[in-house]
Amino acid sequence: MKIEFELNGQKVSVDVEPTMRLLDVLREHFGLIGVKEGCGEGECGSCTVLLDGKAVPSCLVPVGMVMGRRVMTIEGYRKTKKFKVLLDAFAEAGAVQCGFCTPGIIMAVESLLSENPHPTDEEIRRGLSGNLCRCTGYNMIVNAVKLAAQKGAGLW
Ligand code: FES
Ligand code: FES
Repeated sequence: MKIEFELNGQKVSVDVEPTMRLLDVLREHFGLIGVKEGCGEGECGSCTVLLDGKAVPSCLVPVGMVMGRRVMTIEGYRKTKKFKVLLDAFAEAGAVQCGFCTPGIIMAVESLLSENPHPTDEEIRRGLSGNLCRCTGYNMIVNAVKLAAQKGAGLW
């Protein structure tokens, strides 16, 4: 089945089974390997992308569901000015180590800050509860998000 959607700002079309996971279509058909597979069960957040601006685990989304919708991956997001603000905040707060979880976390933070530009610690923890990190303490990630919020990342 031909599935048409917007991917990182461009109209694309792919001929695949609509039940195929969005995660696999992004990696295998579009080479977007910044979208990582961790658990494959919707629990780790490493495969997070934005669907119409909201963070979703792409391992749980059948590609048929994105027909006519907007998908953004870290590859598209990294071209924005906001990405630089988030990245600098994560670096400054020491919230990146191996980096495996980072693309998914950045996408979740974008989704969180676009809805709530000045989240409390509790709201940040809740907003990132679907994203696991084996390396850094979550306190550093919370600090990074607060830093990004202070720099106005949620207001653009
Ligand atoms: S691989 Fe999708 S949530 Fe873990
Ligand atoms: S930085 Fe390694 S899993 Fe998060």
